[in-house]
Parts: sequence; structure tokens; C-alpha cells
Amino acid sequence: MAKETIIFTIILLLFLFIYSYFVEPFSLQIVRRDLSYSDLPLNLEGLKIMHLSDFHCRSFTIREKRLVEVITREKPDFIFFTGDFVEKDEWISSCEEILSRIANENPNFFGVFGNHDHGLNTSTEKLESIFEKKGIKILTNESTVIKFKNGRFYLIGIDDPYLDYDNLSSALEDVEKNKFKILLSHSPQIFLEEKELINNNDIDLILSGHTHGGQINIPFITDFFLSLWPSGKYTVGLFEEGKVLVYVNRGIGSFYRLPLRLNAPPEATIITLRLK
Ligand SMILES: [Fe+2]
Repeated sequence: MAKETIIFTIILLLFLFIYSYFVEPFSLQIVRRDLSYSDLPLNLEGLKIMHLSDFHCRSFTIREKRLVEVITREKPDFIFFTGDFVEKDEWISSCEEILSRIANENPNFFGVFGNHDHGLNTSTEKLESIFEKKGIKILTNESTVIKFKNGRFYLIGIDDPYLDYDNLSSALEDVEKNKFKILLSHSPQIFLEEKELINNNDIDLILSGHTHGGQINIPFITDFFLSLWPSGKYTVGLFEEGKVLVYVNRGIGSFYRLPLRLNAPPEATIITLRLK
């Protein structure tokens, strides 16, 4: 290889490393999606949800500051978080700060646990109690009725399916059939594992994270490797599966052992429900 080619390759790799370590992980992207349903109850038309995922809290950086500013500006009706709050016990306090700053802006804040939340010395029961004091309501294989305008819908939250903590049947126990339903599940694999239950119970929207959009997203290659995960083809973005829409969010943070993002910027998704 010519000397010039080697120097060029080294400079390019150095540039990519600097960009993916110092720049892209903090470049929060706002993704807007209008999701249309032909049977959407009239009183849910225009419902604005902010979907967030995979905080992997470590500290309150410019990224989290921007996120809070976006929430202040956008005024979503609800904020739904789909798991992976934190990877280590020592970063729980940083997570408390992030959660309370978000909840101060919008108290309609709900979430579920992801696989990393189960890897701490602190139990998820204890985590739930710590985080709920900061203003987020965590759903663990349960549902809640959410009132909006003159109507209501169901929010169903399952514990992490990647490590098999999920129990969708139990979460659906108190859910009425003919109401709009949103399911929060850390990993989108729930759709593959519980397809029949999801279809039989007329779940309308599944919000997930877990994949981080690959974090280092090399076209085709990253998608191929992600597709080998239990979540299969549900790697990132929107998937229409008959009546059910599945949205996979790239998340906010990154694995602490691989704090890089390339072509997979952190994402805050604003979903607006529309009548088709
Ligand atoms: Fe994650």
C-alpha cells in the first residue's frame, strides 16, 4: 500500500473516531412521525407523544440539556420511555437528575425497564421506588388507563423481554378490548414472541428501543448483524404489521464500554396520532 494511502486511512479513522466519540453522541435528533389509524377514537386525534429510550445515564450532558429544552418547546401530552435507564449503580443519581428535570417539564411520564436495568446490584424494585420519587411511573407487566380530553386509552408496560422478565398476559388482564392500546416494551422482539396475543388483544402501537440503531451504523452490515438478534428485522424505525405499528427508537445514550455513535444519532421521537 502506498504511503499516502496509509496516511489518508489513519487520518480518516482518527476523524471518524473523534466525530463518533465527541460529536454524534451529543447531537440529539428530533424525529417526527404522524401515525394514522382508521379506527382512532376521535378524542385521540392529535395526541402528541414523546418516545424516548435507552438513557444509559452517566451524567447530565449538553445532550440531556437539549432534550429538556425540546420537551419545554414541544409540550408533548405524554412522555414514554422504553427501558435501559442505567448500567451501573454509581450512575443512578445521575439518572435521578435526568428523570426529575424531565418530569418537572412534563409529569405525564411513564416507562419500563430494559435488560441493563436488571444488571445492577440495586434490584429493579428498589430502582422503581427511587425513580418514581423523581416523577416517572414505571409499568412492570401491568397496564394503566390514561385519560386524554374526554376519552381514554390503555398504556401497557412489560418488563424486559430480552432477559425474559416479560409477562404480557398478566399485563393485559385488566385491559378492555375496544380501547386504543399502546404497549411499551424495551425490545421489539415481543412482537415476534407474542404476535398472537398482541393481535388478539388489538394492540395498536408498540414502542421499543434496545437496538440503539446499531450505534455504529454501517449501511447493510449493521442491519445484518442486528437482524441476528432476537428482535429480527425490527432494527430501527417504523414497521407496519397489519393493524399494529411497531416503532423502534435509536435511544439517547450508549453502552459505557462502547461510547460511540456513528450514523445513528441519539433520538427523541415525537409521535402524533392521526385519524386516517
Ligand atoms: Fe440500551
